[in-house]
Amino acid sequence: MDNKKGLFITFEGADGCGKTTQINLLKEYLENKNYEIITTLEPGGSDIGKKLRQILLHHDGFVSPRAEMFMYLADRAQHIDTVIKNNVEKNKIVLCDRHIDSTVAYQGYGRGEDIEQINLLNEIATGGYKPDLTFVFDVDSEIAQKRVGNVKDRLESEGLEFHRKIRQGYLELAKKYPNRIKVINSNKTIEEVFEQVKKIIDEIL
Ligand SMILES: Nc1ncnc2c1ncn2[C@@H]1O[C@H](COP(=O)(O)OP(=O)(O)OP(=O)(O)O)[C@@H](O)[C@H]1O
Ligand SMILES: [Mg+2]
Repeated sequence: MDNKKGLFITFEGADGCGKTTQINLLKEYLENKNYEIITTLEPGGSDIGKKLRQILLHHDGFVSPRAEMFMYLADRAQHIDTVIKNNVEKNKIVLCDRHIDSTVAYQGYGRGEDIEQINLLNEIATGGYKPDLTFVFDVDSEIAQKRVGNVKDRLESEGLEFHRKIRQGYLELAKKYPNRIKVINSNKTIEEVFEQVKKIIDEIL
């Protein structure tokens, strides 16, 4: 067990694509193989992050797009420095629900903000720290919206066209970073989706 190395794995995709479901399955699968697993999320994976998450998801007044961006980035910086890095250094596997690619997909491709600028801001927020592996759960936008159901937070209320842009953004990111980002066809059953995840994980471990 001493030869187990830490890993930082991120889970990405549009709302309702199955990230949380697959994180839970992978956690159980890897714990059964005696890996130490930390599950966490953005925004909200750290102490400060929990407060920022509350604002980002539930604030019911105007949020300036630039203020929103900096809150996501502050959450990310604190998360890396107080949760992610130290657990990976202790040889744990950190499974993180959303990270840098969400900012590019949502604020960049979704809202049309400058993608090169977002990349630079992400680079500053992370100090250059990168996931070892990223899963993008790719699902038809209509199917994803049905899965999310009727209880929607501020971001999930934006409509189908917004979700299509985000899906497209993730696919372009995967094309740009094929070594880090693996696209998982998520129009299938939970078990079939997890089979694809397992295959990639088994190759890495
Ligand atoms: N492959 C699948 N087929 C059918 N239903 C699924 C599948 N994966 C997940 N679901 C269901 O769809 C809903 C959304 O899944 P889940 O919460 O895992 O998505 P998510 O990506 O975490 O969403 P969010 O971005 O809103 O947190 C849940 O009710 C879940 O049980
Ligand atoms: Mg989720």
